[in-house]
Amino acid sequence: MKDFISLHDLTKEEIENLIKLSIELKTDLKKGIQHKILKDKTLGMIFSKSSTRTRVSFEVGMTQLGGYPLFLSANDIQLGRGETIYDTAKVLERYLDGIMIRTYSHDDVIELAKHADIPVINALTDLLHPCQVLADLQTVYEKKGTLENLKFTYIGDGNNMAHSIMYGCGKMGIDCAIASPQGYMPNQDVIDNAKEDFKKSGADLIITQDPVEAIKDADIVYTDTWVSMGQEAEKAERIKIFMPYQINKELFKNAKSDALFMHCLPAYRGYEVTEDVIDGANSVIFDEAENRLHAQKAIMATLMQEDR
Ligand code: CP
Ligand code: NVA
Repeated sequence: MKDFISLHDLTKEEIENLIKLSIELKTDLKKGIQHKILKDKTLGMIFSKSSTRTRVSFEVGMTQLGGYPLFLSANDIQLGRGETIYDTAKVLERYLDGIMIRTYSHDDVIELAKHADIPVINALTDLLHPCQVLADLQTVYEKKGTLENLKFTYIGDGNNMAHSIMYGCGKMGIDCAIASPQGYMPNQDVIDNAKEDFKKSGADLIITQDPVEAIKDADIVYTDTWVSMGQEAEKAERIKIFMPYQINKELFKNAKSDALFMHCLPAYRGYEVTEDVIDGANSVIFDEAENRLHAQKAIMATLMQEDR
């Protein structure tokens, strides 16, 4: 594993190892045991989009591992003024030990990883958000004690979260149901790739327009904003289309009584989810956010530690 770009690129065992390491690092941190395993290493963090969790958890994680996180706003580096990805990769590899990037085009991340001799971590593109789903799988494992015999339901926009959830479930053998309105279904290439993983792991993938069908007997109910970064101009239209897909108490009742409510955050209460659900007893949103820290430390340690 040179890079961390898509869960589809990883084996089930690699994902399990990352979750295991994340839980070890989390347990040790809580006991006050430090692991300065990335001492003197520098992670460049390129952001073309906003972030609270990703920026803070990568910066804190890198610091906890003894390394240095370098924040690079795409507006402030020459990439934002048209310098090529190739030149950026060839220059940054001379200074840094790893690059984390959050941007629009997924192909840009693939190109960066192709040309940079150092690890590249995808911290969200329009297509995928694998760091989030790794942390989410850890959260499910911690709450349910297993990743087996579970139904993971995602209701909402067929976006980067829906795609990475499909890849994560397919690899780990978790039954997955996605409900999105017509015109906002997940990307067909991602569905086709994910289907290969579902076939191999023996889990089921359901893609439907019916939220009630998708949520029936779910162990995990997930949603995300209806208006992703870059889609602000479509907000009014999207709200109208997505309203029937809101996770409210009535819809949530169709899931198992101990179903987890999950959301990558930022959340918009009253739109994709109602307050009674997101702030209710089944919600684990802040555990997911916390696990971003531990999961990304596991990713950085796996990719950037010399003797691993
Ligand atoms: N979930 C997530 O990636 O949050 P940020 O956009 O705040 O980083
Ligand atoms: N789908 C959202 C996720 C934010 C973490 C977006 O891309 O804006």
